[in-house]
Amino acid sequence: MPDTLTTNSPVIAAYRAATPGSAAQALRAAEMFPSGITHDARYIEPYGLYINRAQGPRKWDVDGRCYVDYFGGHGALLLGHCHPQVMAAVHAQLDRGTHYGASHELEIEWAERVKALIPTAERVRFTSSGTEATLMAVRLARAFSGKPKLIRFNHHFHGWHDHMTSGHSSHFDGTATTGVLDAVAGNVLLCDQNDEAALARLLESHDDIAAAIIEPTGANGGKLPILPEFLQALRRLTAEHGVLLIFDEVVNGFRVAPGGAQEAYGIRPDLTTLAKILAGGLPGGAVTGRKDILDLLDFQVTKAARKEKINHPGTFNANPLSAAAGIACLRIVRETDACARANRFGDNLRRRLNEVFEEEHVPWAVYGTFSSFELFTNPERVAITPTRFDPLQYPTSSLKGERTAGAVHKLRLGMMIHGVDLSSHPGGVISATHGESELEDTVAALRHTVHMLKAEGEL
Ligand SMILES: Cc1ncc(COP(=O)(O)O)c(C=O)c1O
Repeated sequence: MPDTLTTNSPVIAAYRAATPGSAAQALRAAEMFPSGITHDARYIEPYGLYINRAQGPRKWDVDGRCYVDYFGGHGALLLGHCHPQVMAAVHAQLDRGTHYGASHELEIEWAERVKALIPTAERVRFTSSGTEATLMAVRLARAFSGKPKLIRFNHHFHGWHDHMTSGHSSHFDGTATTGVLDAVAGNVLLCDQNDEAALARLLESHDDIAAAIIEPTGANGGKLPILPEFLQALRRLTAEHGVLLIFDEVVNGFRVAPGGAQEAYGIRPDLTTLAKILAGGLPGGAVTGRKDILDLLDFQVTKAARKEKINHPGTFNANPLSAAAGIACLRIVRETDACARANRFGDNLRRRLNEVFEEEHVPWAVYGTFSSFELFTNPERVAITPTRFDPLQYPTSSLKGERTAGAVHKLRLGMMIHGVDLSSHPGGVISATHGESELEDTVAALRHTVHMLKAEGEL
């Protein structure tokens, strides 16, 4: 990424000129937060947008500029911003209380809706985030199996707790990232996705593996796409070796299909982690799955079986506001074609953006599955036909595109200048409210941005 203090990039200058209000907020934030931000994915030089209003597929910054939003609440907003039924449910609940410190009816209905949608949800335990959900899933798997080790796949993301750090964006040798104990990292076995032989070897050479966890649509929500055959092999091999399979459906649960990737691919994991869409845009997560495993959280069952119970408090577990939003959201997921609509927009968007690259003779491509999309920025500058691009033919290093970070940075700023907010991959997630005008605006923004990048010698 260029040093934005010293660069004379016209793209960066134009971004600064368009967003003075965000610049002013960023100065304040710099005095408060490390790097001025509150989530690593929001880090961008010279500063990110400050948003103060959002509706459907769009959001507005403090300067009053409008953006087609592909951050989508980090994936939480399948129904777009401020869906009227979700908002009505939240407003109604606000007047009835935000926390009872007690059980309540809404948590039951929320869980019933999860159970009705997710094929393997025999039991549900709510958490406050996806990170907490994957932490609990790992603990459940270890307690249930009595085994310590966890298989993870390189580049897959499962939140930020200690078991999930090495092998995500660094430490692919499995060593501990800073601040994490060697003993924790040492109990994680890293494997490459789509490599059935390596997975089989790993399972054969260890008899102390509790579970394998995977993002079932591929690392980082599909940045590194997965072969459905690999998922089948993973299910078969883990079952053969008595290893539990955890699908991390924090992003794709209720998105790729109402029942998540397990419905879309017809595979049944033992445990599933959920968050994001689950809580309709409010904080919330859950671990769901086999009753005999979640029974380790049950006072009576563990007592009767003379097993040690797993403790699980959590001040905001199943809080009434998140439950109200989650119920409204999951009702819509179940009763409408929201997932299918977002998926259809994804197909159209990928095709139209690839046509822009083709027409502009830019050897980049847009790919992805369901309602997410990723950009291939072709670090090796191989000849490609964007409309026929197949990411599975390219190595991880090409797809991750780290060597094109400078151009990607300017692409994102250029898209923002032209009213489109892409996520950091770069790419985005789509909502069921993205429609024709968002499609046309995104296509136009890409074309203008390509022209800017060409003028700056980045393409
Ligand atoms: C696949 C996956 N798992 C887990 C998490 C962590 O969820 P949270 O940010 O709610 O802690 C994320 C967050 O983006 C995710 O994408």
